[in-house]
Amino acid sequence: METLIEKLHEQMNLGLQGKENGLMMLPSYVDVMPNGNEEGEYYAVDLGGTNLRVLWVRLGAERGAVADTDVQDWPIPKECYDTDNGRLLNWVADKVLEVMGRHSNVSGSQSSQVPVLGFCFSFACQQTALDNGKLLLWTKNFRGRGLIGQDVVSALSTVFQSRGIRIKIPALMNDTVATLIALRYSEPSTCMGIILGTGTNCAYIEAVGNITKLPETYKSRGSSMIINTEWGDLGAADVLPRCEEDLWVDFSSANPGHGMFEKVISGLYMGEVVRRIILRFVDRADLMGGMGSINILDCPLRREGGFNSAMVAAIDEDETRNLSVTKSIMKSMGFAKINTMEAALIRQICSLVANRSARLCAAAIVAVVQKCPHVSSSEEKVVAVDGSLFVKYKMYQERVRLALSDLLGDQAASKIRLQVVDGGSAAGAAYLAAATVHAL
Ligand code: BGC
Repeated sequence: METLIEKLHEQMNLGLQGKENGLMMLPSYVDVMPNGNEEGEYYAVDLGGTNLRVLWVRLGAERGAVADTDVQDWPIPKECYDTDNGRLLNWVADKVLEVMGRHSNVSGSQSSQVPVLGFCFSFACQQTALDNGKLLLWTKNFRGRGLIGQDVVSALSTVFQSRGIRIKIPALMNDTVATLIALRYSEPSTCMGIILGTGTNCAYIEAVGNITKLPETYKSRGSSMIINTEWGDLGAADVLPRCEEDLWVDFSSANPGHGMFEKVISGLYMGEVVRRIILRFVDRADLMGGMGSINILDCPLRREGGFNSAMVAAIDEDETRNLSVTKSIMKSMGFAKINTMEAALIRQICSLVANRSARLCAAAIVAVVQKCPHVSSSEEKVVAVDGSLFVKYKMYQERVRLALSDLLGDQAASKIRLQVVDGGSAAGAAYLAAATVHAL
């Protein structure tokens, strides 16, 4: 964990200088933060995990008040993950228009104006201003060359224009940036935003003087800027503890050779690593009756993606005396016979993989906290965290906290407050869009 912290510091510094082999360290160009005085109606799109979320919100006259809100989620359809077919943004526009249809006649100050939308897009984008960003690479399950190198704000605006709809998109941001902003709205000492869900990443507030790659014109605009680290892309194969199953998970992923840190941490890969380890025990050590005991065509455990991180969580948190939760999950995987000792082994596999993720994540949190320039060591550092892996998996949260204590000691670790901001991305995107149009 200590070597990882050193490695992260090295790669963060290289990235801030724009040098090769460093983390991407992408400037967010956020220089106006929401302050609660924003009013009016706004939309937000949150795209990047397993679901698309569209939010409509009416910010009230009272400071920080949300007068009304409407949120809807849709699972991203399979065909949209293949970005070469160009369907993704058309589908997103359909869903935005569906929500907009419910509010276009809403009486209010903004109803006759062009609707304003904050765009939270959870992939690495190279921005030169808040309202643009070239997509650098797809991660998670997204494949293909679609939109790579293109400005995703123009691309989405073009789709709306082609349908005769005018929409203003003043702010594009990563989900980590939106999460940080969403909490900072009510908690001004928030210095980091982390996502632990399908993917993982972190944004933090850096001193402008340290971002040497930032164009000179921007250096005079403010003293600090939110940086999207893209820590999932940390290329530290030499320091990451990996087993053979990790190599297979990488090999069969949509982006082999990339996102090594993400692949030992985030929810999309955790179930897959566990699945492959269990399968190896079934195959080599006849666990649960061995391969001969299952119907090969009808065994989810033999299928890629057949075992997910929600199952890892349920097994890791199985406190029943006979491990009945673990047994019933294994039965649903096609293993009719499983004894308590075998269930205990499976639980141990889940705990080990989850613990590895939590401890590596804690090391990365420490690395970034140590880089936050404005917070003294005695001050509380508030870290906004969103993503289903962290939000829904209580034992995982405990494991991260324990690892922070192991690294820093109880007292220093107690100064890092991990604060869940469930659904912060869409809210942060709407607030930032509101603050940006208010500042104009
Ligand atoms: C993406 C990040 C994103 C993270 C969490 C990663 O795969 O590269 O931009 O913040 O997932 O959604």
